[in-house]
Amino acid sequence: MKKVAIIGAGRVGETTAQILAEKELCREIALFDVRKDVPEGVALDILQTAPFFGFDCALEGSNDPRIIRNSELVIVTAGLPRQPGMSRADVLKSNVVVIDEVTDHIMAYAPDAMILIVSNPVDTLTYRVAQRTGWERGRVFGQAGVLDASRMASFLAQETGFSALDITTIVMGGHGDTMVPVTRFCTINGIPISHFLSEERIEAIVDRTRGGGAEILSLRKNSTAYDAPGAAVATMVDAVANNRRRLLSCVAVLEGEYGETDIAMGVPCIIGEKGIDSIVELELNLRERADFLRSAAAVRSEIESLDANQKPHGSLFHRIQANAGT
Ligand code: 2OP
Repeated sequence: MKKVAIIGAGRVGETTAQILAEKELCREIALFDVRKDVPEGVALDILQTAPFFGFDCALEGSNDPRIIRNSELVIVTAGLPRQPGMSRADVLKSNVVVIDEVTDHIMAYAPDAMILIVSNPVDTLTYRVAQRTGWERGRVFGQAGVLDASRMASFLAQETGFSALDITTIVMGGHGDTMVPVTRFCTINGIPISHFLSEERIEAIVDRTRGGGAEILSLRKNSTAYDAPGAAVATMVDAVANNRRRLLSCVAVLEGEYGETDIAMGVPCIIGEKGIDSIVELELNLRERADFLRSAAAVRSEIESLDANQKPHGSLFHRIQANAGT
């Protein structure tokens, strides 16, 4: 890809930019943030790692949303992170205002881009962006399952003592306490994990995966996770940039798949140069199906808690846009 924009130069945005640059997944990275001077500082700092890592792509930061012009992919990490004791849903009301404004910037300045949502609660916000843009669903998707699956794989590696390289996991559903790690499809080099671990140990790993983000937050205290989230986003960007057609769990708007409509949540998708190429429908057993339905109900109640007509009021984003002119 030529140009990727990252909205929000916080820790996840910064980590993502660093990995995209190191892996040379695009020629230009634009960082937008409303905090004065911050995106310029982040871009400059990363740029100064170029001689160490051997990359030569361009990095720029700005408070002017026009910096995202001509981006092929816009990654949205903006919004309030949760604090210890908060759920991802607790930041919904504030983040939906930010996301609406960001969406308007993307529609104005990067109308042909794909949008990858990372901000939380990611399922509901992905749905919101999809509704607001009205774009075809392949172009608007969210990151969650790639991170949750990597958390589960790392727990399995710790538990078994085997290499994380051999572990394949899949986590579906909403990115919250009701997420659905599908243990039946989790393997160690093709061998089901049940061959190596008792049901009880597997259940413990499922629970730990569901609380994976909260565990990091409670340990770090003043920060949510950002190393693994940044790496998860970069993995998705790599799938798009190189048209890999990887099978990755992503937040997708469902149009009848898994019996759901009017919702976005984590399902296995084929990811390539146009974003979501297709959704893979797995045959879930009774328990998996029940877990998926419970997760869908949790996401749906979040979506329904939003006033569809909620409009952003005189926020920073609009003031900056007004000051910058268009
Ligand atoms: C996480 O799971 C912040 O939602 C993100 O770490």
